[in-house]
Amino acid sequence: MQNTREFDLIVWGASGFTGRLVAEYLYQKYGVGKDLSWAMAGRNQSKLERIRSEVADASVPILLGDSLDQSSLEAMAKRTKVICTTVGPYGKYGSKLVAACVAQQTHYCDLAGEVTWMRDMIDQHHAAAQANGTKIVHTCGFDSIPSDMGVYFMQTQAREKTGEPATQIKMRVRGAKGGLSGGTYASLGNEIVKAEKDKSLYGVLIKPYSLNPKGEQEGPDKRDLQKVVYDETSQNWIFPFIMATINTKVVRRSNALAGYPYGKDFQYEEATMAGDGWQGKLKAYAAALPMGLISMAKPGSLLKKVVDRIMPDPGEGPSKAKREAGYFNLRFYNILSDGSLVVGKVTGDRDPGYGSTCKMLAESAICLARDNTPDIAGVLTPSVAMGDALLERLQANAGLTFSFGKDG
Ligand SMILES: NC(=O)c1ccc[n+]([C@@H]2O[C@H](COP(=O)([O-])OP(=O)(O)OC[C@H]3O[C@@H](n4cnc5c(N)ncnc54)[C@H](OP(=O)(O)O)[C@@H]3O)[C@@H](O)[C@H]2O)c1
Repeated sequence: MQNTREFDLIVWGASGFTGRLVAEYLYQKYGVGKDLSWAMAGRNQSKLERIRSEVADASVPILLGDSLDQSSLEAMAKRTKVICTTVGPYGKYGSKLVAACVAQQTHYCDLAGEVTWMRDMIDQHHAAAQANGTKIVHTCGFDSIPSDMGVYFMQTQAREKTGEPATQIKMRVRGAKGGLSGGTYASLGNEIVKAEKDKSLYGVLIKPYSLNPKGEQEGPDKRDLQKVVYDETSQNWIFPFIMATINTKVVRRSNALAGYPYGKDFQYEEATMAGDGWQGKLKAYAAALPMGLISMAKPGSLLKKVVDRIMPDPGEGPSKAKREAGYFNLRFYNILSDGSLVVGKVTGDRDPGYGSTCKMLAESAICLARDNTPDIAGVLTPSVAMGDALLERLQANAGLTFSFGKDG
């Protein structure tokens, strides 16, 4: 049925900060009316026309819908093989689109990093999507593609070297440069507001295996790092990585969904490196402080009002110059089954949250529409849904590298 659809993919939310970047990337890389058929979609015709005139041309079709009106979403979903969406916070505006895509057997990818919402989508839709062959793939941006595809790559190589998967992988952020958008900050805030109303949701945010299938939520991993410590493996002072709470759960879900190719005892963790010696220690404490303040800023508090004023509003984000000057560089410390340590690396050539993220999301959508992907459906993770096909695309088109060695 998918082969008869009018479009390969639709960018839902093309009028927002990130959606606009996805549309711009598609236009520059793939043009329009050539090999790839795609459309821009949102709720506001005149805003979409203005943005289309800035990033593409009038031959890109515009489609309208409303994220709170399921019939408009189903009408859109049945015209395309894939919808990629940047309409967030997903917990507020995303649920009906997932339902529409499952109902219409339309593959789906997004940039959600909202763990409690993803748990909801798994509970509501995994079985139906699995039964009718639809791939619903969350976390197709900086969270969590570099982590999820990074572990997938490292484990493939480990098996080739020793015949066994690595027993433990420690991801360390060696360097990253970029900025936050208003939409992302709003999504973070939405998770905290939800958890304040229903305290049981804190369990979903904190428990290491909370995105795993029910009955498979136990394992050797503990809660993500909460403080500054010295890390013997990387010989650096390390502090908490803000995205670890999402990424580590996605990696564990990948392992479970794929039938434990990394082993049932596989351990995974993430943190940020700050350097060695007293300078490293000082840097780690200084970097951990703003994160602590954001997490302490409870809804309605004075601290939250102060933080809100500093952060960007929805629709705002880092400039083109900042995106182009940005990058990320992640190290993967792989402890192999024979006890040896092998260091791997994943890098990106733009700022993580937007310049790189828009390419990762666009390439995920094309991969779902076009490539030969693993024969599995449901509410999936990037590596399980797309495997080697995505790994190739990310390296060929999205400016990501996956390699070994400590240099750089
Ligand atoms: N995982 C990652 O690495 C990553 C990176 C970047 C962003 N994100 C996530 O992506 C999402 C978007 O971020 P952003 O900065 O691009 O946000 P944004 O600029 O505020 O854009 C939000 C989009 O949602 C649309 N929208 C809102 N309500 C709607 C409705 N009822 N019907 C249809 N469309 C509606 C807006 O349309 P209008 O233009 O008409 O208002 C806009 O296009 C956030 O959830 C953010 O967390 C994740």
